[in-house]
Amino acid sequence: MKTEMIDLQTMDEAVRLLQEGEVVAMPTETVYGLAGDATNEAAVRRIFAAKGRPSDNPLIVHVASVEQAHQFVTHIPDVAARLMEAFWPGALTIILESNGTASTLVTAGLDTIGLRMPDHPLALQLIEATGLGLAAPSANRSGKPSPTSSAHVAHDLSGRIAAIVDGGETGIGVESTVIDCTMTPPAILRPGGVTREQIESVIGPVTLDPALSMKDVTPKAPGMKYTHYAPEATLSVVEGDLSFLQQLIDDARQTGHKTGVLLFDGEDVDADVRCSLGNSMETAAQRLYDCLRRFDQTTVDQIFVRDLSEEGVGLAVRNRLHKAAGGRVIRP
Ligand code: TXA
Ligand code: MG
Repeated sequence: MKTEMIDLQTMDEAVRLLQEGEVVAMPTETVYGLAGDATNEAAVRRIFAAKGRPSDNPLIVHVASVEQAHQFVTHIPDVAARLMEAFWPGALTIILESNGTASTLVTAGLDTIGLRMPDHPLALQLIEATGLGLAAPSANRSGKPSPTSSAHVAHDLSGRIAAIVDGGETGIGVESTVIDCTMTPPAILRPGGVTREQIESVIGPVTLDPALSMKDVTPKAPGMKYTHYAPEATLSVVEGDLSFLQQLIDDARQTGHKTGVLLFDGEDVDADVRCSLGNSMETAAQRLYDCLRRFDQTTVDQIFVRDLSEEGVGLAVRNRLHKAAGGRVIRP
């Protein structure tokens, strides 16, 4: 199958493909998604096949309004209604009780379903024009970093999907926050673009799924248990200061390794390949996946990054880095 890059003039083509049960990559404000009709089993099968995704990992359904969300759930509890009011459209996926409208493949057989209204004009246009709830996981091959540009999507999925709607680079750069509102208080299963602090300012204290502490606990979001976001080289999270980081890099180089490092602006560290996370946690979120993918284009075999603060979107960035590192942490 040839994958076509679709521009604004040919959105009609993407709408037609989705209505016919094909799968189309679309931009959202977080990362690109691989969209298909959430009620069409054949379409959902195509999503899993194109990504190489394990079938026990449920998909998020994207809607264009709260009204459309009602189509997929038994009810919307008050706490979820307040979150929708505050954060939709936006980077917040809300887990509710499914009413069975979505294909059982979407929910991986669970009795719950994740819903999100994306804050991106092209995604909203596709949902509205098709009249469909669009199941859409991130548009990467399973296990790879999520795509923040159409080039990333094409790299992973070209020839496996019908089309890519090109919306340029995504804004936030890490995936949505997943919050389970079927329990009281609600639990964050995956940190993401909407921060814990923002959520708690609207609905009060929430819990974090214990698996997010990176200890040996099975996560409640099935997707969180897989190795994820991993570059081909070995990534290590480093505790300690810049001189300790430099020493690790020098040692690796001396034993014949090609080294990479992720740095914030103003951090002066020498390595074979350096990738900038910018000057804030927001720019780090935007650039993280592109940096990890860039290392794959080099011969770097050891990547180092200093551990980060969990404040704001830092919680999500740190979670992705530790997962990409497979839990490898080096301490002085
Ligand atoms: O920002 C995003 O969320 C992007 C864009 C495309 O919207 N999508 C995304 O989808 O990241 P995906 O499939 O890569 O991640 C969805 C996460 C997985 O960890 C999955 O296990 C979890 O949400 N999830 C989905 N439905 C669930 C449910 N019913 N219960 C618990 N976790 C669920
Ligand atoms: Mg994903």
